[in-house]
Amino acid sequence: MELSPDALAWQDSYKLLVGCVVPRPIAFVSTQSRDGVRNLAAFSFFNGVCPKPFIISFAPMFRGDGEKKDTLRNIEETGEFVVNVVPDELVQQMNLTSPEYPPEVDEFAVAGLTPVPSRVVAPPRVAESPIQMECERVQILQFGDGPGGGFLVLGRVVHLHVRDDLWAGDRIDGSRWLPVGRMAGNEYTRATDRFRLKRPSL
Ligand SMILES: Cc1cc2nc3c(=O)[nH]c(=O)nc-3n(C[C@H](O)[C@H](O)[C@H](O)COP(=O)(O)O)c2cc1C
Repeated sequence: MELSPDALAWQDSYKLLVGCVVPRPIAFVSTQSRDGVRNLAAFSFFNGVCPKPFIISFAPMFRGDGEKKDTLRNIEETGEFVVNVVPDELVQQMNLTSPEYPPEVDEFAVAGLTPVPSRVVAPPRVAESPIQMECERVQILQFGDGPGGGFLVLGRVVHLHVRDDLWAGDRIDGSRWLPVGRMAGNEYTRATDRFRLKRPSL
């Protein structure tokens, strides 16, 4: 099969993209509006960028009606957010936050998750998440200007919370929690089958 994304409707292009880039880690992003309304939403266009400065990125697309998502608006307004990771035991609550609720809805309450104050930034963290990254906005890049388009949010992690039982002295022990990844459509994967692969030395 040969495909040119430019020739596809944005919905078909989206299906292609989420089929090509798998599995994707999930950023569970908490923000707060200027007026202090909390917001929580999942984003699987999420990745690390570099460790020093400690930069992560995630990509909120435009909504289908062409409006910006609440998460993006809040970061534009305040410059702050928290990325909480999603272990297997949080997938149901994460899923409850995914409908596009109006801005006044607090998805912490919808999902029954516990907001706890952050150390450096104003938006709260998700107490139930084992790794929480407090971030300050570095840059927001825009691509397109309506449905199918989106934004790349680059954030600097200014403070990190790692649950004590995950900490192995100088690193996070990945075997002590069960991350979930997003596949295409409604499909997810658990990181249950791990293997080691030593890099060849020159
Ligand atoms: C697992 C998962 C991953 C998602 N990844 C993205 C994403 O990378 N980009 C995006 O724009 N929306 C993504 N969504 C949809 C948003 O979570 C959804 O639009 C949400 O309502 C946005 O909330 P907000 O308007 O409060 O920011 C994802 C949803 C789920 C459940």
